[in-house]
Amino acid sequence: MSNVTSAHGMWSSKMMFILAAAGSAVGLGNIWRFPYLAGENGGGVFVLAYLVCIFLIGVPILVSEILLGRAGRQSPINSMRMLAKQSGASSFWQVIGWLGALAGFMILSFYAVIAGWAMSYVVEMASGNFVSINAEQASTVFAEFTADAVSVVGWHSLFMALTIYIAARGVGKGLETTVRYLMPALLVLLLVLVSYSALATGHFVEGLKFLFSPDFDSFNVDSLLVAMGQAFFTLSLGMGAIMAYGAYMPKDASIIGTATTIALLDTSVALLSGLVIFPLVFANGLETGQGPGLMFVTLPIAFGQMPGGHIFGAIFFTLVSFAAITSSISLMEPAVAWVVEKLDSSRAKGAMLVGVIAWILGLGSAFSFNIGADITLLAGMTFFDTMDYLSNNVMLPLGGMLIAVFTGWVLKDQLIEEELAGDKVWLNLWRLITRFVAPTGVMVVFVMTFL
Ligand code: TRP
Repeated sequence: MSNVTSAHGMWSSKMMFILAAAGSAVGLGNIWRFPYLAGENGGGVFVLAYLVCIFLIGVPILVSEILLGRAGRQSPINSMRMLAKQSGASSFWQVIGWLGALAGFMILSFYAVIAGWAMSYVVEMASGNFVSINAEQASTVFAEFTADAVSVVGWHSLFMALTIYIAARGVGKGLETTVRYLMPALLVLLLVLVSYSALATGHFVEGLKFLFSPDFDSFNVDSLLVAMGQAFFTLSLGMGAIMAYGAYMPKDASIIGTATTIALLDTSVALLSGLVIFPLVFANGLETGQGPGLMFVTLPIAFGQMPGGHIFGAIFFTLVSFAAITSSISLMEPAVAWVVEKLDSSRAKGAMLVGVIAWILGLGSAFSFNIGADITLLAGMTFFDTMDYLSNNVMLPLGGMLIAVFTGWVLKDQLIEEELAGDKVWLNLWRLITRFVAPTGVMVVFVMTFL
C-alpha cells in the first residue's frame, strides 16, 4: 500500500479524503435539488423519508463504498474485479463499476447544465438586474434565460471546460483549497440567508412547518422512490465516486467516523437551503412544486431586497458554482481512473474524453427547457427528466443495493476486518444493515413503485 509515512503527511491525506468526499457530496443536490424535490413531494413526509434513507441506508452504504475503494486501490471497475476474485466470487460483480461509470456520465451530463445556470446567475446578480425585483419578475428572468438555448449551452460548455481542466490536474491541491475555504464560506452565506428568511419574510414558521411537520395524507409511493434517489444523489452514492476517492484514503482513517461526518455536513446544508427557500416561497405567493427553477426564482428575490444584495448574491452563486465543480469532478473520477488504467493515457486525456462525451449528452438536457421541451422519452418525460429519473431513482439505488450485498455477503471477512479495525463498536450494526436492512429497503421501494 502506498501510504504516506510522515505524521504530517498522514494527517494531510486523512483530511484530504474528508475534504474531497465532502466536496463531492455538497453541491447542487443540496441547494438546488433537495428543496425543489421537497416542494414537489409535499414537504414533511418527503423530508422524513429522505432522512431515514440517509441514515439507515445511505451512511452504511457510504461505509461500504469507501471500504471497497480503500481495499481495491484502483478505479471502481478494476477494484471490483479484483475484490470479487480475491473473495472467490464471480466476475459479475464488476457490473457495479460499469453501471456506476454509466450513471456518472448521465448525471454529469445534466449536472453541468444546471451548474451553468448557476454560473450565469453570478453575472445576473452582479449586474444588479435583480435589485428590488418581485416574484413575477424573478420568474420571468428565469424563464427567459432558460428559453435561450444558445446562452444555456454557452454556460454549460464553460462549466464543463472548467471541470475538465481541474479534473485533468488531478484530485489534489486545487480541490483541497476550494473545499477548505469556499465550503465554510458557503455555509456562512447560507446562515445569513436563513437569518434573512427568519427575520424578514414573516413566513419562517410556515416554512418550518412545511419541511418538518409531515402530513401523511399527502404520502405516496412515488415520493418515497424520489426521496431514496435523493439520499443516494446527495451523498454521491451508488456509482463509485466515493469508491474512487476511497482508493486514495490512508489506512488509518476511521471509515465509519468519516462517513458519518460527511452525511451530517451534507444533510445540514440541504436542510439549511430548505429553510432559506420555503419562507421565501410562502412570503411571495410562489408555488412549492414549481420544479427545477425553484432556487433560481426564490433566492434572487431575497438578494434583491437585501442591502448590498447584488454583491452577496454574486458571491453566493460563485460559491454554489464551486460546490458544483467539486461534485462534478467526482462524477467523472470513476470513468477517468478507468480510462487512465485501461488505455494507459494521461489524466488530461482521460478527463477530456469523459468530459466531451458527457457534454454531448448534456445538450439533450440543455435543450429540454427550450427548443427540445416537447421532445419526450420515457413516460412523457423530457430528456432532462429521463436522465435524472433513470440515473438517480433507478441506477444509484440499484448500484447501492449491489454494493451492500457485495460487502455484506460476498467480500472476504479478512478484508472487512482489516478495513474496519478501528470501528469495532459499529461493526455488527453495519453488518446487519448491509446484509439485510439496506438491500431489503431498496427492494421494497422498487417493488412498491414499479409493480
Ligand atoms: N452529491 C452531489 C450533489 O449533491 C452530486 C454528485 C457528485 C453525485 N458525485 C456524485 C451524485 C455521484 C451521485 C453520484 O450535488
